[in-house]
Amino acid sequence: MQEWILPYLQCPRSGAPLALAGDARREGDHILAGTLVSTRDPACRYPIVDGVPDFIGDMERGARAATLDTFGTEWSSFSGWGWIDQAPDDKDAELQVRSGLSSDSEKDFLMKTGLLAAGETKPRLGALVLDAGCGNGRFSREAARYADRVISVDASAAAFVAHENFRRKGIGNACAIRASVLSLPIRDGVVDYTFSIGVLQHTGDGPGQLREMSRILKPGARLSLNCYGTGSAVYEAVDTFIRRRTTVMSEDGKRRFARRLAAANRFVLKAGAVGRKVDRYWRRVMCIRPTYVQMYDWYSPAIADHYSPDQLLAMFRQLDLKILAGSHRIDLPDYDDRRRRRGASSYCFLLARS
Ligand SMILES: C[S@@+](CC[C@H](N)C(=O)[O-])C[C@H]1O[C@@H](n2cnc3c(N)ncnc32)[C@H](O)[C@@H]1O
Repeated sequence: MQEWILPYLQCPRSGAPLALAGDARREGDHILAGTLVSTRDPACRYPIVDGVPDFIGDMERGARAATLDTFGTEWSSFSGWGWIDQAPDDKDAELQVRSGLSSDSEKDFLMKTGLLAAGETKPRLGALVLDAGCGNGRFSREAARYADRVISVDASAAAFVAHENFRRKGIGNACAIRASVLSLPIRDGVVDYTFSIGVLQHTGDGPGQLREMSRILKPGARLSLNCYGTGSAVYEAVDTFIRRRTTVMSEDGKRRFARRLAAANRFVLKAGAVGRKVDRYWRRVMCIRPTYVQMYDWYSPAIADHYSPDQLLAMFRQLDLKILAGSHRIDLPDYDDRRRRRGASSYCFLLARS
């Protein structure tokens, strides 16, 4: 943890500022170990473990805990996903890292935040940015190019993976913390921009997450959201059928399933024009990708909600959030969701308080 983050933190239980207890072990500006204590209630204490403040510990239960376990495993196993510098020459190997290259993260960040749709290819994101559900930190790294400082939050062990990636890659302006986006340990109105990529569907409480993300924003600041959308009736039925089985598999079973599905998709994709056509139709009935990580990511977490335009609009309305730009203008009266549903594509929005 870097010392600059301290004034922005608050106790997620008491809402009071946090102070560093006397037991801190430092290395320059970095605090490697120690304890954060609520200035109002000394019983509220949070350890700093391996340089990462941990507001979660073993607090989560049930489906939420299972979901976080899966992501802890995923990002520990795929710590370099989105950070890979070179595409392999071999076709099969190239398909296995599709969307895992650094250059993919660069493009995906702008696209998934809706910034690209707003015409911002070199956005100025401001002094403080928060990545809500950072995984291994691949998109925090992108945000860190366009902002002074980034706080990267994840409730799973991924927070430690992100911390290690920042350290290894010398990204000095991003700081990882382990906390829930449903109860952010961040003071009200201090953040210039916040984004959340692929997380809303996994928290089990989309409105709660958006409320927290809005709470920490400065007045008039912007927020980006990328989340799963509902697919066609067939797609949803197939997805429910498969996930009912995969989410209760053993860890080995989940891995085997993901590996085999990805390999089957690569086999098809290598079959030239015919294969690409098959792939296009296949994608209409279920989520299929050529990479092991994406198949593990889709089929393993216990919680994976799909949002409809009406559900999203209701959330946005409740928080006075207006869509500035994005992949689907669900707010426009003539918006027709049929095409998006056929491909079950995700939503990407850039939002602001109206
Ligand atoms: C699909 S991953 C996306 C990670 C990252 N945004 C990316 O796109 O690479 C979803 C992430 O959300 C995190 N997550 C799920 N529920 C969370 C919660 N309540 N608070 C914080 N993070 C959460 C998971 O641990 C996981 O790392």
